[in-house]
Parts: sequence; structure tokens; C-alpha cells
Amino acid sequence: MITIGPYVLPSPVVLAPMAGVTDRPFRILCRKLGAGLAASEMLTSDTRLWNTAKSRFRMSHEGEPEPRVVQLAGADPQTVAEAARLNVDQGAQIIDLNMGCPAKKVCGKLCGSALLQDESLVARILETVVGAVNVPVTLKIRTGWDREHRNGVSIARIAESSGIQALAVHGRTRADFYEGAAEYETIRAIKSAIRIPVFANGDINAPQKAREVLDFTGADGVMIGRASHGAPWIFRSVNAFLSGGHLHNGPLINGHPVNGHLVNGHLVNGNSHAALSRSEVRDIILAHLDSLYAFYGEGTGVRVARKHLGWYCEQCFPDSAQVRRNLMEAASTAAQFALAGKHFDEWAGEAAQAA
Ligand SMILES: Cc1cc2nc3c(=O)[nH]c(=O)nc-3n(C[C@H](O)[C@H](O)[C@H](O)COP(=O)(O)O)c2cc1C
Repeated sequence: MITIGPYVLPSPVVLAPMAGVTDRPFRILCRKLGAGLAASEMLTSDTRLWNTAKSRFRMSHEGEPEPRVVQLAGADPQTVAEAARLNVDQGAQIIDLNMGCPAKKVCGKLCGSALLQDESLVARILETVVGAVNVPVTLKIRTGWDREHRNGVSIARIAESSGIQALAVHGRTRADFYEGAAEYETIRAIKSAIRIPVFANGDINAPQKAREVLDFTGADGVMIGRASHGAPWIFRSVNAFLSGGHLHNGPLINGHPVNGHLVNGHLVNGNSHAALSRSEVRDIILAHLDSLYAFYGEGTGVRVARKHLGWYCEQCFPDSAQVRRNLMEAASTAAQFALAGKHFDEWAGEAAQAA
């Protein structure tokens, strides 16, 4: 069981913060499907930039289950501390600091994972933020700056002694961007060097992989990012597998157990508590669209939903460019929702007929 300050996480499998993905609707959806924690998209600590629609959406937490985590990026200790205070005033219950992002926009100014180069600055930022708020502060890092400078263990020790209460480690260096495979040796070394909870992150895309990474690193939990795209139910599958369930023996969608066989309305397969029927998957997708429309409104709602629909299509219609094109062309929320209803209804119906 993972505890962060006063919060006991319901699961050791958490959603990775992802700008442009982990908005409020997606966080709520992943939490419902079993994610133990879901941090907001990264928010700049520069409060002058908060008066944009993008930042306002990122700072919204209405209806989100506790604990509400806000991720901040910034390089000036006082600025980050002030941003943390303001977010706590607005309902943040955990502040997560981003020292893992390799993006140019963030790294142009020493920020995100570029900070890993300057350990004394890291210490000053962490200590100042921890001292400024009365909620737990957590940290997300990469394994180091580049492969010659894998200082993750040193940063982890600094984090622990600065009062950071949990650490997520992406098993790549800043120089790796997203290239190559994540490595877990450094995460294992970090875990054995500190006592605060550690989340292993990078390329975890299936229940068995989560088990392997936990076993290898000794980490307390895993953090899943890209594998949740179009598959928010991955949290449910990983939770079930980690808590002793067997892998579903029916068809899998990209390694996730969905589409079990229904007999008298009950799912029968090797892992019935994790498997979702196709009609349940359809309902999740349609409810997700609805929540995006309600959150973003008409124009932005259609655009953001298109991204998720593209990912759902990869899962459900991997061979149908036609369905995808059709869904991408819809220009209003009403048209998009109606078309999604039609295609995913047909998809769910095919399975019911086959059963
Ligand atoms: C689209 C996208 C946006 C991301 N945005 C953030 C972010 O805002 N903050 C952060 O700490 N990491 C961010 N990341 C990194 C992820 O949190 C995670 O560390 C990385 O994707 C590796 O995990 P995965 O292999 O499970 O995806 C982002 C990753 C992606 C793919």
C-alpha cells in the first residue's frame, strides 16, 4: 500500500502526467478505471501565463477524486513555491514537480529535465517548495541528463532529504528523449538508495510488463503514460493481474483483456473482474466523449475528442482507415458523437452476434 502524506492510494498503478492528454476528463476516467493517482498536465510556474484558456483548463479540478495532484514546472525556487501556494489555495492536495520533461519549450530555459544538470539548484527548488506548502510535494525525474551523467541516484537522495514524499522515475535520460527502450537498472538503484515511495515509469504497456518492472526494480508502484492512450482500462487490467488475477484467456486488444464472452449476461473468462465486454468499452468511449464536450465546449471539444477517437480507433478498428476517416471528418460534437455511437455500436454488436 502506497501512502503519500495523509493519502493512501487505492492502487500502486498511476497515470503519468501528459500535457495535452491528462486533462480533467481523462484523469477522472482513469481514476474510475483503477488508476491510483492522476496528476494534472504540467502547468508553468509563471503565473503571468495563467490567464490563458489552456492554463485555466489545466487548473480545473471540479469533480476530481482525491487526492488532486497538480504538476508544476519551473526553475526559480520562489516562483515555483508561489505557484505551488496558489494551486494549493485552489484545491491542489499534492504538488508534483516536473524535472522529467525533455521538451524544448520547457528546456529552452533551464527547466524540466535540464535541471538535473544543476544539483544545488534542484535542492533549492525542492526545499523552497516543500517549505512553502502544507501538502505533500512529489517529484518526477528522468534517470539523468545523458547516458554519461546518470545522476538519478544523487537527485533521489537530494529529493528525500528535501522532504519530497514520492518520486517517479522515467527510465530514460533527457538526451534519450523517447528513443530506445527504457532501462530499469537506474530505477532499481534509486529504489534501493531511498525510503520514500518510488514509481517506475517508461514503456509499461501490459500487466505482465508491470509485474516484471516491479519485480526487477523493487519499486512501490508503476506509472503508465502512453499505453493508456485509447486504453484507459489498462489500469483495471494491471490492477487485477497484480492482485493475483490470471490473464484473461479470450481475445486481447493490444494486450488488454476486453471483449470477454457473455453467457447469460455474465462475463466468463479467466479474469472476469478485469475483462470488459465490448458494449462496456463502447459505453466508456461514449461517456468519455460526452465529458470532453462538457468540459471544453463545442469547438475545442471536437478537436480534443478527435485525438482520443484516433487512439480508440487504433484499438478497436486497427484495419479500418475508413471508420477512422469518417470519425475524423465530423465537424460538430453532435455529428462526432452520432458517428462514434454508430461505429462503436456496430463493433459491440459484432461481438454479441459472434457469442
Ligand atoms: C504526450 C506526452 C506528454 C507528456 N507530458 C508530460 C508532462 O506534462 N509532465 C511530465 O512530467 N511528463 C510528461 N510526459 C512524460 C510521461 O509522463 C512519461 O514519463 C513518459 O511518457 C514515459 O512513460 P510511458 O512510456 O508510460 O509513456 C509526457 C509524455 C507524452 C507522451
